[in-house]
Amino acid sequence: MNVNKTILEYINSKNEEEFDPYYIYNVQTIKDQCQTFRNISYKNKSIHFASMANVNPHFLKIVKNEKVNIFVNSILHLNSAMEVGFHGQDIIFTSSALSVKTMKYIGNLDIQLNVDSPNQLKQWQQLFPGKAIGIRCNIGDNVKPYSTHAGFFIGKDSRLGFTREEIRQIADKSKIKGLHLYVGTDIFDIDYFINCYKELIDIAGDFPELEYLNFGGGFGASENGAKHFNISEYNTKVTNLMNQVSEEKGKSIKLILEPGRIIGGIAGYFVCQVTDVKPRENKQLIGVNASTVQFSRPLLYPEIARHPISIIRNGGPYISGKKMPTTIFGCSTYSRDIFSNNAELPVLNIGDIIVFGNAGSYSASSHMQFLGFPKPEEFYL
Ligand SMILES: Cc1ncc(COP(=O)(O)O)c(C=O)c1O
Repeated sequence: MNVNKTILEYINSKNEEEFDPYYIYNVQTIKDQCQTFRNISYKNKSIHFASMANVNPHFLKIVKNEKVNIFVNSILHLNSAMEVGFHGQDIIFTSSALSVKTMKYIGNLDIQLNVDSPNQLKQWQQLFPGKAIGIRCNIGDNVKPYSTHAGFFIGKDSRLGFTREEIRQIADKSKIKGLHLYVGTDIFDIDYFINCYKELIDIAGDFPELEYLNFGGGFGASENGAKHFNISEYNTKVTNLMNQVSEEKGKSIKLILEPGRIIGGIAGYFVCQVTDVKPRENKQLIGVNASTVQFSRPLLYPEIARHPISIIRNGGPYISGKKMPTTIFGCSTYSRDIFSNNAELPVLNIGDIIVFGNAGSYSASSHMQFLGFPKPEEFYL
């Protein structure tokens, strides 16, 4: 990967021999990603950024200014959303195993809630009889479920949502205003999304008062051009599908989407510095001034987290002819504190700058206190 000119200029502008690790975001990229979803042709829609991907108030404000709403799965994120000005129906809350206390908190705000089970539905209806509610659905195994980064979100191996049988058994279906589905994360296969959505639509036939279909997120984030989510194909297919549903229902059904990763993934970079070099047989071990608890995708998903790497030396990209197998490790004693185990990089020196790309989603937001390294600063360009 080559960092673009703006990012490089910013890194150079810091002009310090040593610096603490930090994140940088290209704001225009975040805005553009918001717009691609806002531009989906189907008119009756609402796009809600999934705040677990990045809950920094600055990030949320950018999204809000682009007229994208928000989805949260916890009270902390709900409060962060409200602090930057989201309110009422701008906010969707979808989670699981909510306590009575949490439900009361949500119920007293006019936000949208999707519950995860028959017991949760019962609890909600006892607390707030007649108040609008949606249900999270597990569409079962009619579509062969993909196991994505974080496991299964549909099918018999998923813990989430009402099963088809539980959906069938809902006594008064007229009380349900919306159906929610989340098929998995980082998916590029448009037909997979559409086939899953069709299963939800099949269920929707039983709900006479249905107002919305929430298809969740899961849109793949390109690793700097390596792979692209085909938003134009998605647009055509999801719009056709929604037009068809609305026609069959005889009323306009709202489309709700909850994109997370794709909004900020490629906009973000994690920047750190080489503080140690350990030559080994046919390999270099490179220590940096950061820990994976500060940039935790490689820690949480060591098998699949592949973040493109650029090296900066003397203010410019450093690309030497000869590359060698490289492990980049964090500055702790934790044996798994490893950013990358299989990179092919030029021979590095102490003081070189390492920039990891595709670090704008699920990165800063998953900082951990474990091991004792501070939350890195985040800069928006
Ligand atoms: C219900 C729900 N919606 C949306 C998202 C965002 O998903 P993604 O970042 O894959 O787009 C998540 C992520 O876990 C989720 O659980």
